[in-house]
Amino acid sequence: MNAAQVKSEIDRLVNELNHHNQLYYVQNQPEISDFEFDQLLKKLEKLEIEFPEFASENSPTKRVGGDLTKKFQAVSHRYPMLSLSNTYSEEEITDWENRIKKSIDEEIEYVCELKYDGVAIGIRYENGQLSAAVTRGDGEKGELVTTNVRTIRTIPLQLQNDFPLDFEIRGEIFMPHEQFALLNQEREEAGEALYANPRNTASGTLKSLDSKVVADRKLDCYLYGLYGLSEQQVGHFESVLKAKEWGFRIPSPENRFIEKSKSIEGIMDFIHYWDQARNELPFDIDGIVIKVNSYDQQRKLGFTAKSPRWAIAYKFKTSQVETELESVSYQVGRTGAITPVANLKPVQLGGTTVKRASLHNADQIEKLNLHLHDLVQVEKGGEIIPKIVGVNLSQRKSMEKIAFIENCPECDHPLIRKEGEAQHYCPNEVACPPQVKGKMIHFISRKALNIDGLGEETIEVLYAKNMIKDVSDLYSLSFDQLLELERMGEKSANNLLKGLEASKNIPFERVLFGLGIRFVGETVAKKLAQAFENMDALMNAKYDDLIDVEEIGEKIAISLHHYFQDSANLALIHRLKEIGLSFEIVKKEQASSVLTGKILVVSGTFETFSRDELKELIERNGGKVGSSVSSKTDFLIAGANMGPAKLKTASNLGVTLISENEFIKLIS
Ligand code: IVH
Repeated sequence: MNAAQVKSEIDRLVNELNHHNQLYYVQNQPEISDFEFDQLLKKLEKLEIEFPEFASENSPTKRVGGDLTKKFQAVSHRYPMLSLSNTYSEEEITDWENRIKKSIDEEIEYVCELKYDGVAIGIRYENGQLSAAVTRGDGEKGELVTTNVRTIRTIPLQLQNDFPLDFEIRGEIFMPHEQFALLNQEREEAGEALYANPRNTASGTLKSLDSKVVADRKLDCYLYGLYGLSEQQVGHFESVLKAKEWGFRIPSPENRFIEKSKSIEGIMDFIHYWDQARNELPFDIDGIVIKVNSYDQQRKLGFTAKSPRWAIAYKFKTSQVETELESVSYQVGRTGAITPVANLKPVQLGGTTVKRASLHNADQIEKLNLHLHDLVQVEKGGEIIPKIVGVNLSQRKSMEKIAFIENCPECDHPLIRKEGEAQHYCPNEVACPPQVKGKMIHFISRKALNIDGLGEETIEVLYAKNMIKDVSDLYSLSFDQLLELERMGEKSANNLLKGLEASKNIPFERVLFGLGIRFVGETVAKKLAQAFENMDALMNAKYDDLIDVEEIGEKIAISLHHYFQDSANLALIHRLKEIGLSFEIVKKEQASSVLTGKILVVSGTFETFSRDELKELIERNGGKVGSSVSSKTDFLIAGANMGPAKLKTASNLGVTLISENEFIKLIS
């Protein structure tokens, strides 16, 4: 092909792919199969790599993943999902209440509720069974995230007592503080970027394609509205209480999560109470919602274009205080990442004493133009760690601008900052104490090797006494050596040795996670272990082999290459292998051979299992997983949202279509 031909071929592919993207995403009517789409995309990718001068910024290859399956089915809401009008001013709440009183000349009861700061969800129950869960979307249409919502423990799957036969309940899904902190701690340990706040994290989690990830993240939900009840209640409050009888976890009147009031004084009291008390809640709220209780009165008041007239939200202002910046210190993480921390003159903020605030990185310090002893504004928003949002320049006392350190505060090695990265790093992996210790602590942690009887303090002591330099040394510790340690009795020493022995049975994926390779968190380690099956294959994998694996991108591939290039790392892996740790996956036991000789293709989205789980089940029952429908395919397990093209191919070839349930019956 000459240059002109290449260019016209690239243009043709771009147009064609854009056309199919539009059919798939916007019109929900794909004309070609996922496989065919991928082939076109790969063709374009190849040409763009060979002839980068013809690649356009807006090429379909630039879309994240270009992965057609990364999507939930769009469905229409049976009742539009409206939003609330809101205000930060108490006066406007009073005005609203006056307007209500004027337009309805009856006694009015209000219901005050917490305004949960999360993601709205509408959940439909048919015959007492959770049948669909839909996100807010644009209010008219949302995304079907049923499988993910089913993992939330506080949402019942099956109702009890005299539930209505077909109705919808709405609420807010959120991530509790404790869970958010835990998740970020894990991310920090894996050297991954931290999540900004619980709300965005909850929202991202809910749209995860892997419902196992959702289940692990332990989202929670409070329910605040019911639609389509057969036996109408007097009002909102009564409906919510009724829902409790059917098995829902509802906001409780006992701890003032929900409260009835007949007056503006009662409303204000509720607002003032929670403006203080919200700091002690284990999750975020961003305000209070006030609703007219009676459904009859709600109907009379009606709606504006966007929101009901019978409800209003009062939003809290984020609490902010000024205090002095006393100094900046620098923490070194397990991965060598340097985090600057502002040490503040202690100050009360939202019910707690604040002494420190994260400064994230050098750019943040630069952006704030921080000087020593500056009076800084500290805010506590959705984030748990307070942040510095500004500097009171009129009060500047010192000319000493905060200069980011150049050497590691722990080992004095010069710091580096990679191009395009915000964080500074200490590259002295092998001798920088917090990095060495951090790696070992990560290795023994619960989700990695989970070594019974060995904790952070013991690692600290062993390291300080020069008894261990890396994790492989743990395995040559003797009973007598351990007994010499302070506070280590015979029983604990035995326990520890047993724990080390038992760790040899920990599966490969967790050993891989335990090595603490940058960006290789729990999920990535799992994907890598599944894809390569053993350490040698992973170590020999080419860049292209790596990024071919689902969820593995450039960043992770480079990090792995970097890790395996280091002879110290290779030596460590070698020693751990000799010790007997698992460096290959153990093939799951065969469950049955009912599918022997059969080829099954999995397509669409499912209710009970994820696609990966279905594939595993096929293999464990003796079958083979096919990647696309062909004349060799025996069964097509058809889920929701499967492309019509695939269906057509299957019916043309006479392939038997089975549902998820039929498949389960087949193998059980
Ligand atoms: S009632 C027709 N009650 O705030 C209004 N909403 O902008 C239905 N929210 O989308 C909403 N807590 O996601 C209601 N106790 C509560 C709420 C609440 C949080 C969210 C909800 C809604 C947004 C309103």
